[in-house]
Order: sequence, then structure tokens, then C-alpha cells
Amino acid sequence: MECFFRLASQNTIGCLPLPSNLDSIIDTAWSKAQNVEGYIGDREFRALCMLAAAAPTGGVNVEIGSFKGKSTIGVASIASAFNLGQVVSIDPHNAPCETDPDLDASGTSFDDFERALTQAGLRDKVEAHRAPSREVAIGWNRPIRLLWIDGDHTYQGAKLDFDLFKPFLIDGAIVAIHDTLHEFEGPIRVFVEDMLRSDEFGPASLLHTIGWAQYRPRDGAHFSKQRQQLARKAARLIPLVANGRKVEGLTRMRFKLQCARIPHAVLTPAEFSALLTSTAT
Ligand SMILES: C[S@@+](CC[C@H](N)C(=O)[O-])C[C@H]1O[C@@H](n2cnc3c(N)ncnc32)[C@H](O)[C@@H]1O
Repeated sequence: MECFFRLASQNTIGCLPLPSNLDSIIDTAWSKAQNVEGYIGDREFRALCMLAAAAPTGGVNVEIGSFKGKSTIGVASIASAFNLGQVVSIDPHNAPCETDPDLDASGTSFDDFERALTQAGLRDKVEAHRAPSREVAIGWNRPIRLLWIDGDHTYQGAKLDFDLFKPFLIDGAIVAIHDTLHEFEGPIRVFVEDMLRSDEFGPASLLHTIGWAQYRPRDGAHFSKQRQQLARKAARLIPLVANGRKVEGLTRMRFKLQCARIPHAVLTPAEFSALLTSTAT
């Protein structure tokens, strides 16, 4: 019933009010995901679930980079609990894999992915594509409410993921990119250059290292000041990681210092809702 009222009260820019039982759904999801090997911690998992719960209905949830299914459990738990569309997981699950160097050339993370989702009772909620994003994008035609990018972290890779799927974002969709404050060039550049500096996007922030923004092609310009403020700070990281540069020694110290200057606290649901429903200046 709550689900019905939430959908009915979706506002004009398409955000859903956060459900009152969101915390308990996230607690359950985390209890299923916490022992799955992966690259998302408790705080970011919660933040991702909050983003997934707030995006408007009318599209699917696309995850690029699932690995062994840790973040997939979060997105699928929310989509399933609140009837928020199909979850599409995209990952070749193959070596060579930067994030799992122990995987040998014939290895795969797919079996662990399937096991984790099955144990979580979510396997039938996830449409898994065992392929790189560029292959799945061929012939793609479904509208997207949540685009979660956590795949290839090079600039070329992250930019391609963004460019391939952006044309399918529905008004109010949320794009979230992982590891924007880690030492990779792709996530931070795409977040700053393609999202924070674009008037097609409205509210935006960093939730720990998840950079997110809401696709608002009609009124995104109203949020320009807020986005530019964040862009100015976040852009200082780009030269430190440009061209796949190794971040070490003095550069590493400067990187850490710059990160500390960028606001990236995980917002409470109330703060997050206020940001999404604000009309900015
Ligand atoms: C950091 S891991 C993802 C972590 C995962 N989201 C989690 O919660 O643990 C990155 C994943 O991206 C996948 N990947 C790399 N390039 C990709 C591409 N072009 N398309 C889709 N997935 C890709 C890798 O196979 C790897 O499993």
C-alpha cells in the first residue's frame, strides 16, 4: 500500500518521496551483501540504495560493473521492495580484471555473482548480461531511471559508459558514478566534465566517493551555481590523476588534501530529499 501512495505522490520533476521503511529495507539488504566480496562499503551501499529509491519510475536500473554482486544486491533489493523496475547488470565477469588481479585468464566472477544473488533471494530480479557495456549498448532502447557506473575506471571506459547510456535517461533519472574520489581518472572526469558542468543535470553531490546528479534537462540550469561550486573543488583532482598517472609520493599527499576539501559526507534521507525537491537559485 505504501508503495502505491509513493508512486502516486511522485512530484512534477519525478522524484519519489523516500519511503518510511527505507532504513529497514537497506538494513536487510546490507545483511545479505556485507559478506559478499566486493568494492562497496556500508556507507556507500546505503547511499546507493537511497539514490535507487528516489529516482522516478518509468525505466530500468542499469548497473555497469557488478563483479560478485555486492552493489547489485543493494539496487535489486530496493527495486524489488518498492516495485521500481528491472535491474540490468552488465559485466563481462572475465579476466583480465583490474579489480580482481587474482582472477586467472580463464577465471570469472560470474559464478560468485550468481551464488550471491541466489542466496540473497534476488537472482530472478536481475537480468545479467555477461558482456562489456559497449556490447550491451548495441540496440539498447529501454528508458533508464538509475544509471550506476562502476565498470572500467579509465577515462575512455567511464566516458563511454556515460555516453552510451545517457540518451536513454528519463527526466529525473539519477546517474551515480563510483570511486570519484579514488585514484582513477575516469570517474572524476566524467562526474565533473559531463555532469557537474552540464545544465542538463540538476541537483548533485558526492556521497562519500559516489558522485551523483539528477538528469533535469528542463530546469537543470537552475542548479548551475550549486553544481559549479562543487565542480571547482572536485576538478582540482583531475590533473593529479590525468593520463592514468600513478598517484604516489607528493602527488598522493596533494590528492588526499584536495579530497578533504571536497564536501562528500553521506546525506541523511531528509537532507537528500530536501536537495532533490529544492528549486535552487
Ligand atoms: C569495481 S568492480 C565492480 C564492483 C561492484 N560494483 C561491487 O559492488 O563490488 C568493476 C567491475 O567492472 C567490470 N568491468 C570492467 N570493464 C567493464 C565494461 N566495459 N563493461 C562492464 N563491466 C566492466 C569488471 O569486470 C569488474 O567486475
